[in-house]
Amino acid sequence: MGKKSNFSLIGFMGSGKTSSGMELARLLKFNFVDSDQLIQNEMGMTVREIFEKYGEKAFREREKAQIEKIKTMEKTVWATGGGAWLDPLIRENLLENSWSVWLKVSVDESWNRVSSHLSQRPLLSKAANPISEIDLRLKERSAVYSLANYSVVTDDKTPREVAGEIFEIIKRDNLADLS
Ligand code: S3P
Repeated sequence: MGKKSNFSLIGFMGSGKTSSGMELARLLKFNFVDSDQLIQNEMGMTVREIFEKYGEKAFREREKAQIEKIKTMEKTVWATGGGAWLDPLIRENLLENSWSVWLKVSVDESWNRVSSHLSQRPLLSKAANPISEIDLRLKERSAVYSLANYSVVTDDKTPREVAGEIFEIIKRDNLADLS
């Protein structure tokens, strides 16, 4: 086993990073951290409010600062926001300090999962046509998401099933100390 003992879940909005991450942490008996949640706690505001009041750039700065903390952590599952992995410094940090898993989701499945909480997704709620916006951004981002160490398809799977698949990969490749 290498020195990396954290796992990071990356991928598009609605891919299940938070829900599957919580399940994976439970299976591994690791801590669970959600970067959007850390930012919201720090700022005392929702992601939507941060985007409205300070703009996306400020949100991205806070995101980078919070994810820096992974350097000091061990045995933690990180759910990241859907845009975090696109930042080269965040990506480098996550590649260095965690095993990264891309949760793949189709346009339709992403839409099914996010449409009921659209107001909390400022990048989509502002779009004239959110489905085309998902399609466009997913196309733009997929090549970068594919740089993650592993990928798992999440369509038609429960968070528990996705976490179970990741757990099998971890055992197969001996990525974590499960003793
Ligand atoms: C974003 C995804 C969101 C949140 C913010 C920006 C993105 O997180 O960080 O709205 O750029 O894809 P989720 O992927 O958890 O929805």
